[in-house]
Amino acid sequence: MNENHLTSLIDQMTLDEKIAQLMQLATPFYKGASNEGQITGPMASMGISEEVIRSSGSVLGASGAKEIINIQKTHLSENRLGIPLLFMSDIIHGYKTIFPVPLAIGCSWDLESAEKSAEIAAKEAAVSGVHVTFAPMVDLVRDPRWGRVMESTGEDPFLNSQFAEAFVHGFQGEKLETDHDRVAACVKHFAAYGAPEGGRDYNTVDMSERQLREYYLPAYKAALDVGCEMVMTAFNTVDGIPASGNKKLMRDLLRDEWNFDGVLISDWGAVKELIPHGVAEDTQEAAKKAITAGVDIEMMTPCYVHHLVDLVKEGQVNEALIDEAVLRILQLKQKLGLFENPYRGANEEREREIVLSDSHRQTARDLASKSCVLLRNESVLPLNADQKVALIGPFADNGDILGAWSWLGSKDDAIKLSDAFSTRIDSGQLSIAKGCDIETGSNEQIDEALRTAENADVIVLALGEHSDMSGEAGCLADIRLPEAQLNLITALKKLGKPMISVLFNGRPLDLHGVIEHTDAVLEAWYPGTEGGAAIVDLLYGDTNPSGRLTMSFPYSVGQVPVYYNNYNTGRPKDAPDAQERYVSQYLDIPNEPLFPFGFGLSYTTFSYSDITLSADTIKPGQPLSISVSVTNTGNVAGEEVVQLYIRDVAGEVVRPLKELKGFKKIMVAPGETKQVTFELTEEQLRYHHSDLSFESDPGAFVAYVGSNSKDGTARQFELIK
Ligand code: BGC
Repeated sequence: MNENHLTSLIDQMTLDEKIAQLMQLATPFYKGASNEGQITGPMASMGISEEVIRSSGSVLGASGAKEIINIQKTHLSENRLGIPLLFMSDIIHGYKTIFPVPLAIGCSWDLESAEKSAEIAAKEAAVSGVHVTFAPMVDLVRDPRWGRVMESTGEDPFLNSQFAEAFVHGFQGEKLETDHDRVAACVKHFAAYGAPEGGRDYNTVDMSERQLREYYLPAYKAALDVGCEMVMTAFNTVDGIPASGNKKLMRDLLRDEWNFDGVLISDWGAVKELIPHGVAEDTQEAAKKAITAGVDIEMMTPCYVHHLVDLVKEGQVNEALIDEAVLRILQLKQKLGLFENPYRGANEEREREIVLSDSHRQTARDLASKSCVLLRNESVLPLNADQKVALIGPFADNGDILGAWSWLGSKDDAIKLSDAFSTRIDSGQLSIAKGCDIETGSNEQIDEALRTAENADVIVLALGEHSDMSGEAGCLADIRLPEAQLNLITALKKLGKPMISVLFNGRPLDLHGVIEHTDAVLEAWYPGTEGGAAIVDLLYGDTNPSGRLTMSFPYSVGQVPVYYNNYNTGRPKDAPDAQERYVSQYLDIPNEPLFPFGFGLSYTTFSYSDITLSADTIKPGQPLSISVSVTNTGNVAGEEVVQLYIRDVAGEVVRPLKELKGFKKIMVAPGETKQVTFELTEEQLRYHHSDLSFESDPGAFVAYVGSNSKDGTARQFELIK
């Protein structure tokens, strides 16, 4: 079907049919769904007619070839014009083979593996009938109280943009029309959902347009520049207007400035939420505002189907807006090849072969081991195969390691730490106790843990948050581990044995109570289906930790938001002329986070030498090469993430103390030296000025090369224009 066919199809549609294409409903509304008719809660009061369902355009949350084929078949037999449904689902970090949560994937600094994980997620989803995934989520995050930081790759606009591209490539491949192992991607949540005040989900976002453009927008743009098919709006306000009714964001920026011509979908219920936000009096006004501002598909509220017909008839909404939205939706259906084959990749037999296959699990295991970050190691890791291990803690024998947004993954398929240890060492060497529950504990549990650890050489503590303590609406004001777990650590410490903490959680934590009492800390995040196996690989040194933080770990929650690319202030604490008191500081805690962006240990050490610049000036069209020699000074092979930051010494507006401009993850053998070279261009020195122009300024710059955002060797250069 070509463009003319699509236009003539639209010509044949009634206004009601067109508007129904703009409605997205969940599976219970559809005949053939496994939960058909289970319309409860707010869904029950939506007042959706049979006619709307018959003509609707897309379905949310269906999964499995059988279900999707069933729904599509019935739909096609009832839809007057035979227009197939689009099936959209949240396939965030895996379909059934669950990869580490995106924040963990970010910490791998491994774009190729990230892309591979999205490719596998797409393959499993596509064979199960899904056409579109609501991913990648690329919201920049600085506040670990916000539960959704686990869905993002972190606090840096450059790194997030690189991952956004990798994920989109992985999901979509080169050609969706013929490659039915891929799905269309939907970048979200447009825009700035990652900056809710106080870290409380759905809360107000208010920032300058300069800040928005500089930090928050680049990753969405990067996803779109590599062809991401869809965009999802955000729940929050941006400069006083909810994103889902925000014309400036959607029409002016996304459509006109960025030329995005794909489908724009609201987040769940976000059109109707214009009412509680206080910018619409009723559902009619909400519908009018959302369609005018540019939302094509309304997810899970019925404002469009209830009111757009009247709004068009009354001349309040131009029918051309509706036609445009319908055309974009039909174009996506066409791009996915649905007019030729409405079932696309869905195939029950192949689904059984592909989903959760050994090779997918192996990739998940590799990525999980690259994503864990070793935060502390007082020579207790790697473990030695002869040691007797006491594995203690609420995550010792717990499959809740998949993290939020893994609704199709099963804990029963997950490799728990207890499983992986039992495979690695003899049963006589391993003793296991829970020690406490995640949020509560008892003296009996502690006594049992003490008895379990009595004869052990080393204690491995498996601690963390249960997976619904992060994710959507999973916000916390206190980001320490629950007290019961801290008490367990204190009790076991009395035994005087080496203790290693392995942490399962979806956000940077305040690690006081853990870090000072245990000899090693491995941040495992939610590592996914193969988590236990990957962690045991790391603990025994079969693989060497190579993850590096992409979100700062605060010293305490009082510092939040704390991030590496902050401004200097007029009274920086470390200035040579700083006064003792009147500087920018806390009186009770340091300014620095406990662990900075880019930080992570290895079982080997790396030294940096010969940092050289190809010139001491950079000019437009004349890039600067910055090279460094990295030597593995330890005894085992290891991967290092070599990081390049710059500082613009004096800008037209204040500039961050450091900005990541390049990174390379390299494997270095013991004793080996590798040279790494970065090319820095004048374009990379551009930034948004006070009038929002995007340009660079001549003058002094500093380049820092090192292993994290704090430690780096500085070299000066000058931009000449
Ligand atoms: C979330 C989105 C998600 C959507 C559909 C919303 O609550 O904010 O990220 O894609 O639900 O499940």
